[in-house]
Amino acid sequence: MKKTYNTFSPEETEKIARTFAKKLDKGTPHFIAMYGDLGVGKTAFVRGLASVLAPTARVKSPTYTVVNEYKGAGLPLYHFDVYRIEDEDDLYSVGFYEYLQKGICVTEWSENIESSIPKNAYRVKIERGKNPENERIITIEE
Ligand SMILES: Nc1ncnc2c1ncn2[C@@H]1O[C@H](COP(=O)(O)OP(=O)(O)OP(=O)(O)O)[C@@H](O)[C@H]1O
Ligand SMILES: [Mg+2]
Repeated sequence: MKKTYNTFSPEETEKIARTFAKKLDKGTPHFIAMYGDLGVGKTAFVRGLASVLAPTARVKSPTYTVVNEYKGAGLPLYHFDVYRIEDEDDLYSVGFYEYLQKGICVTEWSENIESSIPKNAYRVKIERGKNPENERIITIEE
């Protein structure tokens, strides 16, 4: 199933993420693969996810650390940014494959690791709309 939303502020994007997160079972692992260009709003979306799945977390882009762990309301939330990941060896060395069964994983820049994205992942794509300043088109595929 594929759903599309248009948003006009980061707060609205967070709200779409919140609504999506509320439907997830907090006690089982999930994988949410995010796609979209630089500065399009991926971290904003993760902020919305975290407000439901890890309410005490301070979400910051793990651009240099590759993964941030947020203590969850159920399982932990693992926030990946694989912008700098070049191949599967890099992914192994950050322990990517071990996280998959341990919690809820969300990845920014999934384009870089397409062959490692689980088949049953939710896919979230964010694009700029007609007004590239603040309009975003969010497609959630499950
Ligand atoms: N509708 C919108 N939804 C989300 N962000 C928006 C929207 N309109 C404007 N913005 C702005 O776009 C930027 C999104 O930043 P954010 O860090 O979430 O992007 P990102 O995709 O994670 O970037 P990066 O590729 O660097 O990780 C923020 O400056 C935010 O204010
Ligand atoms: Mg980001």
